[in-house]
Amino acid sequence: METTAQDIDTLFLEERRFEPSGDFAARANAQPEIYDRDFEEFWESEGRERVAWFEPFTKLYEWDPPYAKWYLGGKLNVAWNCLDKHVEAGRGSTVAYYWEGEPEDERREVTYADLLTEVTKLANGLKALGVGKGTPVGIYMGMVPETPVAMLACARLGAPHTVVFGGFSADSLAGRLQDMECEVLITQDEAWRRGTTVPLKKTADEAVAESPSVRHVIVLRRTGNVVPMEDGRDQWWHDVATDESECPAEPMDPEDLLYLLYTSGTTAKPKGIAHTTAGYLVGVAATHHYIFDLKRDEDVYWCAADVGWVTGHSYIVYGPLCNGATSVLYEGTPDYPDRDRWWAIAERYGVTILYTAPTAIRSHMKWGPEHAEKHDLSKLRLLGSVGEPINPEAWIWYHDHIGGSRCPIVDTWWQTETGMIMITPLPGITTTKPGSATKPFPGVDAAVFNDAGEEVGPGGGGYLVLRRPWPAMLRGLYKEHDRYVETYWSKYPNVYFAGDGARVDEDGDFWLLGRVDDVMNVAGHRISTIEVESALVDHQEVAEAAVAARNDATTGQAIVAFVTLKGGAEGSVTKLEELRNHVARKIGPIAKPANIVFTPELPKTRSGKIMRRLLRDVAENRPLGDTTTLADPTVVDEIRSRGAEEQSKED
Ligand code: WT7
Repeated sequence: METTAQDIDTLFLEERRFEPSGDFAARANAQPEIYDRDFEEFWESEGRERVAWFEPFTKLYEWDPPYAKWYLGGKLNVAWNCLDKHVEAGRGSTVAYYWEGEPEDERREVTYADLLTEVTKLANGLKALGVGKGTPVGIYMGMVPETPVAMLACARLGAPHTVVFGGFSADSLAGRLQDMECEVLITQDEAWRRGTTVPLKKTADEAVAESPSVRHVIVLRRTGNVVPMEDGRDQWWHDVATDESECPAEPMDPEDLLYLLYTSGTTAKPKGIAHTTAGYLVGVAATHHYIFDLKRDEDVYWCAADVGWVTGHSYIVYGPLCNGATSVLYEGTPDYPDRDRWWAIAERYGVTILYTAPTAIRSHMKWGPEHAEKHDLSKLRLLGSVGEPINPEAWIWYHDHIGGSRCPIVDTWWQTETGMIMITPLPGITTTKPGSATKPFPGVDAAVFNDAGEEVGPGGGGYLVLRRPWPAMLRGLYKEHDRYVETYWSKYPNVYFAGDGARVDEDGDFWLLGRVDDVMNVAGHRISTIEVESALVDHQEVAEAAVAARNDATTGQAIVAFVTLKGGAEGSVTKLEELRNHVARKIGPIAKPANIVFTPELPKTRSGKIMRRLLRDVAENRPLGDTTTLADPTVVDEIRSRGAEEQSKED
């Protein structure tokens, strides 16, 4: 385990408790009996309650480890559940998204009826291009209403999508398009970000040039700046999406693929996480209903994540729309044009539920509470956190300065793989503790195991596992069965290994302690050390590279790279910038190392394995652990002194 004794001590000292208020409890969607419900009864009734079926399911689930199937025998369509279901029930004029562009004067109210029309038009256009059930489609867009429209148009036709985060590079996009063999890519001319434009189409062009399966590129006009269009391949969205005639929602099998979302693992190649139709939809809708306590005719819900990550898939698009929620969707950064932009938005739409990440909370903390104080946030009644462990101080700040000391906070633990929230407080029931994700969601069986596979009792630390299948669980890694088994199912027989350290306290509350593998968590996003290493070694002057994470006050973890240049060359500040930019080009700006330490050699064992543990100690400025297995023990002293130099250059 990579967690230190110190982490555990700090957590032990956290003794603040926040009881639910009586008013909240009285009206809460989740009542205490929810924890007594039988696993099968719970998921069966949720399956009927949250989702509308063309044909009812006949069997709850089948568990053939490590693969599960849920809601067998039914027929349904995800887009129908997110759109037609509400329009047919007379809720067509309800706002689905209050959208704000980053330029302040751009606002749109998109109702459920509008969304259905837009989805119908795009789906008809896609169909005319030959997209149908099973055709893989890539989506490379920013935070505009057309991104959910594109996802839903695919779901309507039964075409699985892969959304690629708009901050990813051409190489990252190409890798995903190639792996899934996408036939169509939907993108936009440019996106707005912090007052400048992000050239999505230009990046998409580079990626498509290396992705022979892509036959058509559909381009949304967003900023209106001129972008090159390739004859015969590229078409404007507004030319493709014109036919408003009805486009029937394809009746899908429960286990048909809904989407792939690629996420970092411990090798350079991202994993294609597969999510299917019925179990995923039930899982995200049920969790969204109880955890966010959604009252759809009263609440204005804002999940401030990017739609390109799983949080956006489950809790901006599929969960909230299936539940008929009114959401806020914001295109840009929180500090544009000023640091109060989020709070201006929250005030304007009367946001009642806000879901964001600890890294964002820490940025706001750094900027100071005065920005939130300028706005009326009195409608807020519930706050959520996701992406990494939240430090108790950030939790308290969020609680006091954003929640006005009156809103419950749900610290939700889950992963791209789990599809839905797995460990979380339930507002109105759970006594919360700053820094603890508290209890498994009803119908979820989580535990902490030691190395030998024994359950660890109260107070003990170990590895987080899930012992029973759940509806939204991944259905494997796309085209990589062995890797699926190896990554999640080989440490303990028939038990899902999440890759996170955790401990349970005397009350049975879970405290998440971070990743235990070679995966870093930067600003709530998983990045593997090996991906960054491969990007560095890809540079022609780099001989060898090793990457480790150190703690960072804002981003949670920051990337530190140790690099040996070819021919024994010395590093320089220019070289450092060049390598950082190289990584940004290969993966995306999010993976840029915060520091690079140039070193003539990396610490290796006698068998030639890089000792990452020591590099982490150096990165963290900690006393070194055991160095006796090093081939050349003097190497670390050298690196350490260089690391210190590098550190002082940064300050
Ligand atoms: C990893 C999953 C789930 C959507 C965003 C990230 C960490 C996530 C928490 C939390 C402690 C958390 C874990 C997990 N994580 N939420 N509330 N407390 N850690 O999705 O990229 O798949 O990353 O994020 O380490 O394994 P992801």
